[in-house]
Amino acid sequence: MSADSATDSSIETDTATGESDRYGPDDGVLVVDGLTKRFGGLVAVDDLSFAVEKREILGFIGPNGAGKSTTFNCITGVYPPTEGTVYYDGQDVTNSAFHRMVQNGMARTFQEFRPLEDRSVVDNIQISLVPDRLFSTSGLRGRTRAKAVELCERVGLGGRLHQAPDELPHADMIRLELGRALATDPDVLLVDEPFAGLAEEDIAEISTLLRNLRDQGTTFIVVDHNMRGLLQLIDRAIVINFGERIADGTPEEITEDPAVRKAYLGSED
Ligand SMILES: Nc1ncnc2c1ncn2[C@@H]1O[C@H](COP(=O)(O)OP(=O)(O)OP(=O)(O)O)[C@@H](O)[C@H]1O
Ligand SMILES: [Mg+2]
Repeated sequence: MSADSATDSSIETDTATGESDRYGPDDGVLVVDGLTKRFGGLVAVDDLSFAVEKREILGFIGPNGAGKSTTFNCITGVYPPTEGTVYYDGQDVTNSAFHRMVQNGMARTFQEFRPLEDRSVVDNIQISLVPDRLFSTSGLRGRTRAKAVELCERVGLGGRLHQAPDELPHADMIRLELGRALATDPDVLLVDEPFAGLAEEDIAEISTLLRNLRDQGTTFIVVDHNMRGLLQLIDRAIVINFGERIADGTPEEITEDPAVRKAYLGSED
């Protein structure tokens, strides 16, 4: 970290933490290699590398402002990375636009909900269905509605099809966000803070939903502040602080990791 160590010629690879490990296109379904994002002088994401395995639920953990959403934004083409490479399904997709990433099979939910307020739950999901895949042959209007209803049922909104988004309890808003993301038929789904503002029983229900979706084949990266809820859901986590990876491992390993406790919990106890 210090200027001295940065200029120390003996430091070519950081073997102690493995942070300098490079990743290649075939290391996972989604691979981030050496991702850096600067906003002016601020380094929001700093030489971050990780790989996501097919059908895993990867937790992406870090304190406020650690760079989690920025990483999602760089992966999904919302922001161009300053440096680094993103591979999806073996292809270099760095700088691909968001709609292109969606066509590739990736979807995300946003930290702030963005439903169309004047449309019903089922309409919101129907509008999100990917036209390319659905309208490639004619006469699919009825099937589109049926597909939207089926998606509502899949995310647990089967009983709320005709309600307006602002009538939904908070947990159901998250279900709606997930339904809209699933409407593009993603293989990989990035979920930003699904547990924010949820009671413990809702967290358990949303976790069950995510696990079921994973069992049906979806790969997840999930960001959340609720460390306890997240650690119960995920298979593995990457922990970042100030845009840098400080740890990765199973929930047990993460919980025990002194660097994580210090950075995230502000203590080493
Ligand atoms: N568009 C932007 N322009 C300038 N700075 C930004 C922009 N987006 C994010 N940042 C800064 O980058 C850093 C990382 O922000 P980011 O939103 O990625 O953090 P986060 O880990 O998602 O935090 P939170 O847990 O609060 O959602 C912060 O210092 C933030 O202020
Ligand atoms: Mg964020």
